[in-house]
Amino acid sequence: MSSDVQGKVLINGKAVDAASASISVFDIGFQRGYGCFETMRSYSGSPFRVDQHLDRLAASAANLRINIGSIDRVKGWCLKVAEPGDGIVRVFVTGGTDMKHLGTNNSIIVFMEPLPQMPDVFSLDLIEAPWHSDGRSSELSGAKTLSYGPNLAATITARSKGFDDAVLVGTGGAVLEGPTFSLGWVKDGQIFTPSLDSNILASVTRAAVVEVAVRLGFDVVEGSFVTKELLDADEVFALSTSRQVASVVRIASTTFERGPITASLRHGFLELVKAETG
Ligand SMILES: Cc1ncc(COP(=O)(O)O)c(C=O)c1O
Repeated sequence: MSSDVQGKVLINGKAVDAASASISVFDIGFQRGYGCFETMRSYSGSPFRVDQHLDRLAASAANLRINIGSIDRVKGWCLKVAEPGDGIVRVFVTGGTDMKHLGTNNSIIVFMEPLPQMPDVFSLDLIEAPWHSDGRSSELSGAKTLSYGPNLAATITARSKGFDDAVLVGTGGAVLEGPTFSLGWVKDGQIFTPSLDSNILASVTRAAVVEVAVRLGFDVVEGSFVTKELLDADEVFALSTSRQVASVVRIASTTFERGPITASLRHGFLELVKAETG
C-alpha cells in the first residue's frame, strides 16, 4: 500500500513511523492470505459507522478463528488514527507466525491514508467469478478476508480491456458485486440490488443507501438478478466506503446515463454521513 500514511501506523497499538512499519515475513497473513481487514472512511476525524465496520471485522476474525481480543481496543486505535481529519482508515488483522497455533500472536495494523483519487463515473466489464460463493454458503461467507487475489485479478483483467473495474457474475449468471464495491440499479423508478443471500459482502455503504432509499420513498428490491436485468437498467451505481455512491456509465457494451435517482441517493447518503459524523 502507499506510504502517504497520515500520522503514525499502529501495530498492536504501538505507534511507529510509516517508513519503518513492518511485520514478519513469516506471518501467515502475508504467506497465505490468512487474515482479515476493514476499510472505513473518516469524515473530519470521525469514521462513518465505525461500529458496523468493527462488527464485520470481529465476525470475519471469528470465522477465521483469529482472536482479536477486545473490539473496543481496536476501535480506540481506529479513532486515534482518524483524528487528523478526512481519509481512509485501514485495519489489517494477520494470522500470526505460528503454523501450529493458527491465529495466535497475530498483528493488528491500523493507519489512515489520504482519500484516493477516484473517477466520479465508472465503466465496468462483466467477469465470471467461479471462485465466488455466489449463494453457496461456507464458513467464510461474508468474511472480508485477506485472500482478495481473485478479486484483484478481475479488476486487472477489466482494466486491461479499458474498463475501470469489473462486475462479478456467478457461474449461473447471477449479478453479484464488484471486486471492492456493491452494485445497485434503477428500473422504472424502483431500486434493485443483489441480496446478501448471494454471499456478497455485507457492505456498510449498501446498507446505508438502502436506508436512505427507503426514507426517500423508493421501493427497494433485494434479490437474485441476471445480467440482462442489470443491462436493462435506467441507471446503475457502485457503492463502497471510498466510492460512496458513484454512477456507472458503461457495463460491457451497454451505456447508461448519470441519472437523477442516483444523484438523489448520493445526496441523501452524504446528508446521512453529515448527520452521523457531525
Ligand atoms: C467485495 C466487496 N463488496 C462490497 C464492498 C463495499 O463495502 P463497504 O461499503 O463496507 O465499503 C467491498 C469493500 O471493500 C468489497 O470488498
